[in-house]
Amino acid sequence: MIVDHLGIPAERIKTVEDRETVSLGDRTLEFIHAPWVHWPETMLTYLREEKILFTCDLFGSHLATSDLYATERARVYEAAKRYYAEIMMPFAGLIRKHLEKLGDVDISVIAPSHGPAYKDPSFIVDAYRHWVNDPPSNLVLIPYASMHTSTARMVDYLVAALGERQVAVQPFNMTVTDVGQYALRLVDAATVVFATPTVLVGPHPSVVFTAYLTAALRPKLQYAATIGSFGWAGKAQETVRSLCSSLQVEWLDPVFARGAPTAETYKALNALADAIAKKHEPLMK
Ligand SMILES: Cc1cc2nc3c(=O)[nH]c(=O)nc-3n(C[C@H](O)[C@H](O)[C@H](O)COP(=O)(O)O)c2cc1C
Repeated sequence: MIVDHLGIPAERIKTVEDRETVSLGDRTLEFIHAPWVHWPETMLTYLREEKILFTCDLFGSHLATSDLYATERARVYEAAKRYYAEIMMPFAGLIRKHLEKLGDVDISVIAPSHGPAYKDPSFIVDAYRHWVNDPPSNLVLIPYASMHTSTARMVDYLVAALGERQVAVQPFNMTVTDVGQYALRLVDAATVVFATPTVLVGPHPSVVFTAYLTAALRPKLQYAATIGSFGWAGKAQETVRSLCSSLQVEWLDPVFARGAPTAETYKALNALADAIAKKHEPLMK
């Protein structure tokens, strides 16, 4: 990476093994390999005498601040979760192993390459433990687009129907949504419902992008569905599913209306809300 991206000659580089140390005189650096968070050669550096762990990208946050340390906790938590969602979530399995490996390291400060440092390491380590280990929450995300409001009306109806059934739900109009906010909520969501009109035979381009991104981020989702409106024919549902083929989810019955939603459409949306509420029962406790 250093050779390819920074043009540093290979002869100036010393390769270190996992847990190898380098003495700087009165300070000792210990290198801890942590590959794939999120580059193949990611490595943490532990300054033994000060107990400072420089974690490279791990535990970073998307936060530009002049604060050296994470003092505004709520703000930092949100920025770190967003960073995790956008960059780290696909590597959750590896991060779980790296967290175990750090169990025997006595850390006083965590200093990532992005965002502020942590004087209270458990704040960010516990957050990561929760994100990588815990099951998803009772939360449904509905990313959608709508040109003439038919799909939007179906989304509004489904949001209300899920709320009545004690299922937490968050719709995202993907034509205006900050995708980082959508990614952030994917960390916790159990179900995603892609809502789209049929456009040029397939899903709306914003929903195509969302479906692709959702699969690429490899969240903990357990269930998925598609809803929407079409004019005459198309493959919106099939295309969303194929874009998400790598997601390990159970697909619930789709609901599609020809044109504006009808009484029959709302009945089918109630059935979808019932199905989701039933699947979420174990997550409501
Ligand atoms: C640019 C454009 C392309 C469309 N292409 C298709 C299509 O390929 N197949 C289809 O069944 N309907 C197509 N439609 C019709 C829409 O799917 C239909 O009007 C639908 O009800 C729109 O849903 P909305 O109100 O949520 O935007 C198209 C509409 C537009 C504006």
